[in-house]
Amino acid sequence: MSQLMQQVDNGEHGLKRTLGAGNLIALGIGAIIGAGLFVRTAAAAAQNAGPSVTIGFILAAVGCAFAGLCYAEFASMIPVAGSAYTYSYATMGEFIAWIIGWDLVLEYAVGAATVGIAWSEYFNNLLEIITGSKMPYEWCHSPFESLKDAAGNVISQGYVNLPAFAIILLLTMLLIRGTKESAFVNGLIVITKVAIVILFIAFGWSYINPVNHANYIPAATTYIDDSGVSHHFGGFWGIVGAAGTVFFAFIGFDAVSTAAQEAKNPKKDMPIGILGSLAVCTILYILFAHVLTGVASVEDFRNNGKEASVAYAIKTYMHEHVWLANLVTIAILAGFSSVILVMLMGQSRVFYSMSIDGLVPKVFSTLHPKFRTPYKSNWIFFVVCGLFAAFIPGDIVGDMTSIGTLFAFALVCAGVWIMRVKQPGLKREFKTPWVPVIASLGIISCLLMMAGLGWTNWLRLLGWLALGFIIYFGYSRKNSKLRNPDK
Ligand code: ALA
Repeated sequence: MSQLMQQVDNGEHGLKRTLGAGNLIALGIGAIIGAGLFVRTAAAAAQNAGPSVTIGFILAAVGCAFAGLCYAEFASMIPVAGSAYTYSYATMGEFIAWIIGWDLVLEYAVGAATVGIAWSEYFNNLLEIITGSKMPYEWCHSPFESLKDAAGNVISQGYVNLPAFAIILLLTMLLIRGTKESAFVNGLIVITKVAIVILFIAFGWSYINPVNHANYIPAATTYIDDSGVSHHFGGFWGIVGAAGTVFFAFIGFDAVSTAAQEAKNPKKDMPIGILGSLAVCTILYILFAHVLTGVASVEDFRNNGKEASVAYAIKTYMHEHVWLANLVTIAILAGFSSVILVMLMGQSRVFYSMSIDGLVPKVFSTLHPKFRTPYKSNWIFFVVCGLFAAFIPGDIVGDMTSIGTLFAFALVCAGVWIMRVKQPGLKREFKTPWVPVIASLGIISCLLMMAGLGWTNWLRLLGWLALGFIIYFGYSRKNSKLRNPDK
């Protein structure tokens, strides 16, 4: 902690305090709205909750608000640009920091793969708009997916998701050349994203078919998806499961906390920025999900409307507004690209810091001689991310992202509480109210959503953490700067 503060005092990280509450809210919304809303909402409705996915959104938002308040305190305590990894390294030591850093791969790299797969669905939709036909199923789906007829016979079998792989490649190349999304471009993307959400709500409202909403909270049953995985459908656990899935739609608001030292008045602006962007998105999400599940049915989302669900709903049920489906498709492709870019950049930043600390090899902090970007790291994560995008279904990577991020959020909530006990005197520009109540509620709501995601996702998370422990004890401990200052 003291080393980190020294750097700040040396002025090395002196960032200008230029952002007001409004800028912070825009920053949050820019990073938040993406595949979670335009793809995972329909998946959660189909697999877990039907129309009550709207209640899932509320639950996820409440959990995010608690975690967000804790993030804000961490961010204001450690005034260097960073992520949960940097905060925990400074406050809770190397081991916990390793767990969080390793876990964040699920949020960023696997998250980018999820949005890449979602991008592929809407890309295919664009192809259909332009050429009249889609790509062959085999080349835009993972080997774990197949297309079946009504009788359950396999018609097509996926091989590889080429568009998802291609967009990750393209954006990696852009990232290596060094791209800073300008405030102008970010503003444009935020406006476009919010505009299409509002347009869909406004035009879709009158197409809500009461039949689709008749059974708003379906009775508790189980739903077995195409791959044979069973999900809690309906009732309390259906809603909790939906919350875990659509939690993906909120990922990214933590980006606001990383701008703590650029805020004009962090004490006031950070909570407004974090809670404000969450509040705006939550209202939009609930209305959007209400309209989407009213326009199309759960059966649609399980079958023909499974992919590019929003465009499907408009084309199928809102005939007068096909222009909106086309507009939504183009806007979504642009919006998703910016989310992928931010996630890939976040990933390389976390591993850059971990590499400087000696926890992962130096290759992750080698900079390109001309572009000054961590290009080797970008290429390595292109391979990881590209493989996930090409060969794993979106449902699996999406829920892995959710469970991994929820776990990181729970650790951050615990971290704020631990630090209050261990270092009560440390200066905090923003203090989370009512600790430990808010911190505990944050932990409980994250754990509840994790529980809703089911045991297969727990197994994946535990497997991922086990792999992390092997690397930590096999490599990181021996090479860490903290343990080997002379190395
Ligand atoms: N929240 C972002 C999305 O939904 C990650 O795409």
